[in-house]
Amino acid sequence: MTRQPMKQSDDLMMARPVRDSQSEMAEIVLPNDANPLGALLGGRLMHWIDLAGAMAAHRHSRNYVVTAAIDHLDFWVPVHIGDLVILRSSVNRVFHTSMEVGVKIWVENYLLDSCQHVSSAYLTFVAIDGAGRHLKVPAIIPETDEQRRRYEDAGRRREIRRDELDRRRNKLS
Ligand SMILES: CC(C)(COP(=O)(O)OP(=O)(O)OC[C@H]1O[C@@H](n2cnc3c(N)ncnc32)[C@H](O)[C@@H]1OP(=O)(O)O)[C@@H](O)C(=O)NCCC(=O)NCCS
Repeated sequence: MTRQPMKQSDDLMMARPVRDSQSEMAEIVLPNDANPLGALLGGRLMHWIDLAGAMAAHRHSRNYVVTAAIDHLDFWVPVHIGDLVILRSSVNRVFHTSMEVGVKIWVENYLLDSCQHVSSAYLTFVAIDGAGRHLKVPAIIPETDEQRRRYEDAGRRREIRRDELDRRRNKLS
C-alpha cells in the first residue's frame, strides 16, 4: 500500500530560503573520539555529519526527520586529537517528503593556523510526524548561484540514488 503524506497547515508549508536552513556545528577532537594513533575515528565523524545534517533538515522542515540515506564518503585528510572540526550544512533541494542536505567538513589547527577540507557529504532526510507518518516538506528557495548549482546537482544525484536503490532491491528479490 502506498502511504500518502499528511497534510499540514499553509503557514508551515510556506517556501523558505536555503539560508534559513544553514547550520554550523563545531567539535574539538578529544581522546575518546580517536584511535590509538590519535586520529579521529571515521564513525565519530559520520555521527557528527548526521547531526549537522539533521539540524539543517529540522530548521527547514520544522518537523521531526529520519535519515533515509547517506551517500558515500571520502575522508581527504586525517584529523587528530586537539583539532577543531567545523561542519556546515544546508538543504540543497526538497522533493516531496524527502530533502537532500549537504554537509561540508573542515579541520582547523590553531597551532599551525591551518584550515583544510576534510569531506563533503550528501544526506537524504524524510520528514515525519510523531506517529512516524511521512510529511510533505515545504519548497526551498535557492538565492545564490552556488545554491542554484547545488539545487540542480541534487536533482541529478536523486536520479542516481533511485537507480542504485532499484538495482539493490532487484538484487535482493
Ligand atoms: C527512510 C524511510 C522513512 C523511507 O520510508 P519508505 O516508506 O520505505 O519510503 P517511500 O518509498 O515512501 O519514500 C519516502 C521518501 O523517502 C525517499 N527515500 C526512501 N528511501 C530512500 C533512500 N534509500 N535514499 C534516498 N531517498 C529515499 C523516497 O524517495 C521518498 O522521497 P519523496 O517523498 O521526496 O519522493 C524508512 O525506510 C525508514 O523509516 N527507515 C529508517 C530510518 C531510520 O531509522 N534512520 C536512522 C538510522 S537507523
